[in-house]
Amino acid sequence: MSDQHPSLGVLQVSVWRGGAHGEFQQFEVPRRDSQTVLDVATHIQRHLDPTLSYRYACRVGMCGSCAMTVNGVARWTCRTHVARVARAGRIELAPLANLPVVKDLVTDMAPFFDKWQRAQGRYAGATGRHDPVARVDPASPARRAADAGIECIGCGVCYASCDVVSWKPQFLGPAALNRAWTLVNDERDTAGARRLAAVAGDAGCHACHTQGSCTVRCPKGIAPTAAIAGLKRVTARAALRGELDGTEDTVQDRAGRDAGVSEVLP
Ligand code: SF4
Ligand code: SF4
Ligand code: FES
Repeated sequence: MSDQHPSLGVLQVSVWRGGAHGEFQQFEVPRRDSQTVLDVATHIQRHLDPTLSYRYACRVGMCGSCAMTVNGVARWTCRTHVARVARAGRIELAPLANLPVVKDLVTDMAPFFDKWQRAQGRYAGATGRHDPVARVDPASPARRAADAGIECIGCGVCYASCDVVSWKPQFLGPAALNRAWTLVNDERDTAGARRLAAVAGDAGCHACHTQGSCTVRCPKGIAPTAAIAGLKRVTARAALRGELDGTEDTVQDRAGRDAGVSEVLP
C-alpha cells in the first residue's frame, strides 16, 4: 500500500492465540497512516499467519462484529486507530472478556444474545399489515427515551466491560437491558408486564451497580446506565402495584435458580 512508509516504523503486537488457556504470540506489523486495530489483525492474518481467527464484516462501525480487547480495554477495532491506543509502539489484542473464547480473537456471542432473548428484547406487536401505521410523536418523552438507545449495534463492548457480568454470570447485562428499555418505551409494543418481569428478577436491572463502565465504553455513545435506571424505576413501581406477580418470566427466573446456575456474589 502506498501509505506505508519506513519512517512510520513497526508496531509490536501481542495477539492471543488458542482458546481459554492459550497464550500471547508476538508479531511485528508495519505502521501505516490512519491504521486501525482491525487493519493490524488483517495484516497478521494475510501476511504473517493465515491461521489467525478474528471477526469483522462491515469495517465501518455498523455490524458490531469486530470488538476485541485492546491493551486491556474492550473496543470496536474497525474504528479504533492504532495511533490512539498504542503504548510505546506496542498493542495487545485479546478476545472480549466475559464471553467464552472460541479461538484466538473470536468469542462465542451466544450467551450475549441469549440474554437479549431472556430480557424479552424483541418487539411484540399486535397489528397486521392491513392495520394503519401507528403514529408515534417523535417529540414525546417515551420516543426520545427509546431513540437514546436504539442505535446499539450489539458489539458486546459494554458487556465485556461490566464487572457485574464477571461476578454474576447470569446478569442480563447492559446491552440486553438497554434493548428492553427501548421496547418498554415503544408505545406500539405489547409485551408490557411480561418484559418488566423478565428484567426485574435477581439477574436483572436491580443487580447493576451503576458504576458506568458500559456507558463510558460504548462506541455508539449509548448510556445503558440511564436505560437501567429507567428500568429500575418502572419495575419497582410495577412490583409495588403487584403487576409482576405470576408472570411467565418470574417463573423462568425461579427455574434458573432451582437448576443451580452458579452465582458468585460481589
Ligand atoms: S452500570 Fe451496570 S450494566 Fe453498566 S457496566 Fe456498570 S454494573 Fe454493568
Ligand atoms: S450498548 Fe453500545 S457497547 Fe453495548 S452492545 Fe450496544 S453498541 Fe455495543
Ligand atoms: S467491522 Fe463492523 S463494526 Fe467493526
